[in-house]
Amino acid sequence: MVVRQWHLDVRGARSRPRVSAVIRPAGVPDAPWLADLAERTFRETYTAYNTPENMARYVAAHFAPELQAAELADPRYLTLVAEIEGRPAGYTQLGPGPAPLCVTGPEAMEIIRFYVDRPWHGQGLAHELMRAAAAHARAAGARTLWLGVWERNPRAIAFYRKCGFTEVGTQTFLLGDDHQRDLVLERPTT
Ligand SMILES: CC(C)(COP(=O)(O)OP(=O)(O)OC[C@H]1O[C@@H](n2cnc3c(N)ncnc32)[C@H](O)[C@@H]1OP(=O)(O)O)[C@@H](O)C(=O)NCCC(=O)NCCS
Repeated sequence: MVVRQWHLDVRGARSRPRVSAVIRPAGVPDAPWLADLAERTFRETYTAYNTPENMARYVAAHFAPELQAAELADPRYLTLVAEIEGRPAGYTQLGPGPAPLCVTGPEAMEIIRFYVDRPWHGQGLAHELMRAAAAHARAAGARTLWLGVWERNPRAIAFYRKCGFTEVGTQTFLLGDDHQRDLVLERPTT
């Protein structure tokens, strides 16, 4: 188990320039708050671009606490949480695929979800979470990371490119009844 702890320099915060941050694997007891964080960050990211009906269908199918608990109990998946001074600030979930054919790197592991809470955008936390995700994936035997990102999510695309991902293809993501185009990105775990 890799647990990273460090001090994050908060940009522009004079009175509280450094905070204590921890990234650790999540377990089944984390399911209730993780479900809240997952639903909230998903809604914050996509509500403006999708119908309420499609958002409701997706959220109901993916973010219920019992679904989170089942995923956390499943050894094929790994969820890492980032906590700032003991409070959840982001999470990522990795899983074994299957990768689309456009992903050509060996031993590929998918970054299924990658969400940082809005107050921590642009603060370096996402980079730490990505470093931890790559380290865990490597420790589990993966040599390639891949993910799908909505073509209309420019901030996330810019972030992944900064992290060394390159575009290798596209795939369809179903949000309710809306077929959306995701870019498929990959990079080595090293
Ligand atoms: C995606 C996410 C993890 C990135 O973390 P972050 O801390 O915001 O990332 P950073 O600030 O380091 O990098 C984002 C880059 O996008 C740039 N950017 C911001 N808005 C942009 C836009 N509309 N178009 C293009 N680039 C944009 C930023 O300027 C920054 O680049 P810079 O560092 O060169 O200035 C975070 O924004 C997040 O959790 N978003 C909501 C959830 C999400 O979209 N998850 C991805 C699902 S696939």
